Amino acid sequence: MKQTLRVQISNEKEYPIEISDSAINELNKNIAEYTNGKKKLIIISKKVYDLYRDSFEFDENEIFVLKDGEKQKNIKNYLKITKKAIELGLTRKDILIAIGGGVVGDLTGFVASTYMRGIDFIQIPTTLLSMVDSSVGGKTAIDLEEAKNIIGTFYQPKAVFININFLNTLDDRQFKSGLGEILKYAFIENSCGYKMQLYLFEFLTLGCEKILQKEPLTIIRMIEYCLKLKIAVVNQDEKEGGLRKILNFGHTLAHALETITKYKKYTHGEAVVYGMFFIINWSYKKEYITYSYYRLSIELLEKYGFRALKKEYPIEKLVEIMKKDKKAAANKISFIIPCDKKIVKEIKLSPLEVEYMFKE
Ligand code: GLY
Repeated sequence: MKQTLRVQISNEKEYPIEISDSAINELNKNIAEYTNGKKKLIIISKKVYDLYRDSFEFDENEIFVLKDGEKQKNIKNYLKITKKAIELGLTRKDILIAIGGGVVGDLTGFVASTYMRGIDFIQIPTTLLSMVDSSVGGKTAIDLEEAKNIIGTFYQPKAVFININFLNTLDDRQFKSGLGEILKYAFIENSCGYKMQLYLFEFLTLGCEKILQKEPLTIIRMIEYCLKLKIAVVNQDEKEGGLRKILNFGHTLAHALETITKYKKYTHGEAVVYGMFFIINWSYKKEYITYSYYRLSIELLEKYGFRALKKEYPIEKLVEIMKKDKKAAANKISFIIPCDKKIVKEIKLSPLEVEYMFKE
């Protein structure tokens, strides 16, 4: 099965996203279509390289193998990849290819956006999280010790090829991390401005068993629904001037939890789920949402085996981190809160109000 969606930000920023369950080696055809007559540099995750090197038809010297982990999204690797591109003689007419999770995609995208002031790149995401989020929408970045994603650009790929067979070798924790980000879309569906109802909330509620068993057609449909919503948002607001902020549902607390634990304790998706539990509970207490929607929301998260965070972190420290977040402005911290069924909105609170929010 194959499903093609299109991002359409403007005429120059239009690209296909193909979701399929074909054999992995079919990707060679997709790559050939975009690299015909061009020099290429492939940036590939070490895990993916070890598992799938025989499926790809690459020349060993056009490959940059990136070790796994958020720590690799650093300035040293940015320079190494750039130097490799120079060594291979890549010009503005050539192309980079990212094969891996969010780290590989973000880093490759950032190199692509700056190499000779911009070179084409394509995304081949291999984790569930990168399939439904980071490979689409053009956010690229590297981290500094001080902050995650602090250097980056908005730079759209030329194409995204999603092959769900990579999920067969993804470990359970990473698969669940992707589900965390997927559940987010269920709560924001009616704020995305997509032209019709997808009923993602209901789809995720009823399809839980098949999703956890990685049933291919259900997985393709699930990715398709999430991306239809993400594309609708990105088409309207590429650079996060307003609407795109709703994709940060659950993320304000998530980023603080990831930072306070130095990215070692929680996967991104787990942190997002803790953020969603927190904000759903708070919104119910504040009567933004009804009891029945609150119950359905909590039950949906719990159906996937997620639970609210038990461990407590010093509130002052969490708030300190939130103040430094890219989403904070004018000393106000931004939260995306549920305010009706599948509808969210942004609220901005002072650090003191946020401290109070945690103590209520
Ligand atoms: N990951 C959220 C976004 O792409 O805006």
